[in-house]
Amino acid sequence: MDRKISFIGVGPGDPDLLTIKALKKIESADVIFWADSLIPQKIINFSIEGSEKIKTSTLTLEKITSKMIERFNEGKTVIRLHDGDPCLYGAVKEQLEILKQKNIETEVIPGVSAFQVAAAYHQAELTIPDITQTIILTRAGGRTGMPEKESLEDLAKHKSSLCLYLSARHIKSSQKTLLEFYPPETKVIVGYRVSWDDGWTSVIELKDMEKFSLENELIRTTIYIVSPAINTIANRSNLYNPSYKHLFRGK
Ligand SMILES: C[S@@+](CC[C@H](N)C(=O)[O-])C[C@H]1O[C@@H](n2cnc3c(N)ncnc32)[C@H](O)[C@@H]1O
Repeated sequence: MDRKISFIGVGPGDPDLLTIKALKKIESADVIFWADSLIPQKIINFSIEGSEKIKTSTLTLEKITSKMIERFNEGKTVIRLHDGDPCLYGAVKEQLEILKQKNIETEVIPGVSAFQVAAAYHQAELTIPDITQTIILTRAGGRTGMPEKESLEDLAKHKSSLCLYLSARHIKSSQKTLLEFYPPETKVIVGYRVSWDDGWTSVIELKDMEKFSLENELIRTTIYIVSPAINTIANRSNLYNPSYKHLFRGK
C-alpha cells in the first residue's frame, strides 16, 4: 500500500462537521499533528489510545516538518489536521513542498470552512439570482499584507457576497472601505468561534460592524460575511422554474 501523509480539514470546530473520511483517518492515525489554537480537543478525542498528539501552535515550519518526516520514516501513520478547509489560509503549501522534496507522498482532504457554517446557521444563500452570483473570500492585510491588485477597495467594488477571514483586528478600516461601496444597511453575519461550545453568530448592519466588534471584544477567530443576499427576498431561480428546460427536466 502507498504510504502518505494526509493533510485533513476538520471544519471550524463542531466534531459533527467532520467528513467521514477525516474521522476514519483520525481514528486510525499513529501520530496526529494538530493546529491546537483552532481545533477543539473533542476532535482529537476520536484518536486511538496511545497515539501521539503533537500541537503545532508553538512550533516552526521546520520543527513541524522534521518531526513529521521522522515519524513517517519510523513507519508510522502520520496525519496533519487543519481547521476548516486546508486550502484557505492554512499555510499548507509550504509543508507539502518540504515533504515533496523528501519524496514523501501527501494528500489533502477537504473540510467545511468557517464561512459555510456561519451562512448555514442563518440559512443564508450567498448567491441569489439578480442580487449576486459571486462570493469573495478574502482578508484584511494585517502583517501578511495583500497583493496590490486585491485591495479591499477593488474587491468591494463588485458588491458581491464578501467573506472576511482573519480581519477582526482591522475591522475599523475594513468597515470604512466597505461603506464606500455597499449601503450602510447591508447585512453582515458575524460569527465568533462558530460551532464551538462557546461560539455564536449574529446578523448586524455594515454601519455597526466596528462598534459591534469592539463591544464584543472580537480580535480573533471571527468570520464576517457581508452580503446583499442576506435577509432579502429571493428572486426565483431558473433551476426549479417550470418554464426553464434543462437536461434533467426537458419536457
Ligand atoms: C488561519 S484562518 C483558517 C481558515 C480555515 N482554514 C477555514 O477554512 O475556515 C483562521 C481564520 O478563519 C476564521 N475561522 C476559523 N474557524 C472559525 C470559527 N470557528 N469561527 C469563526 N471564524 C473562524 C477566522 O477568520 C480565523 O481568523
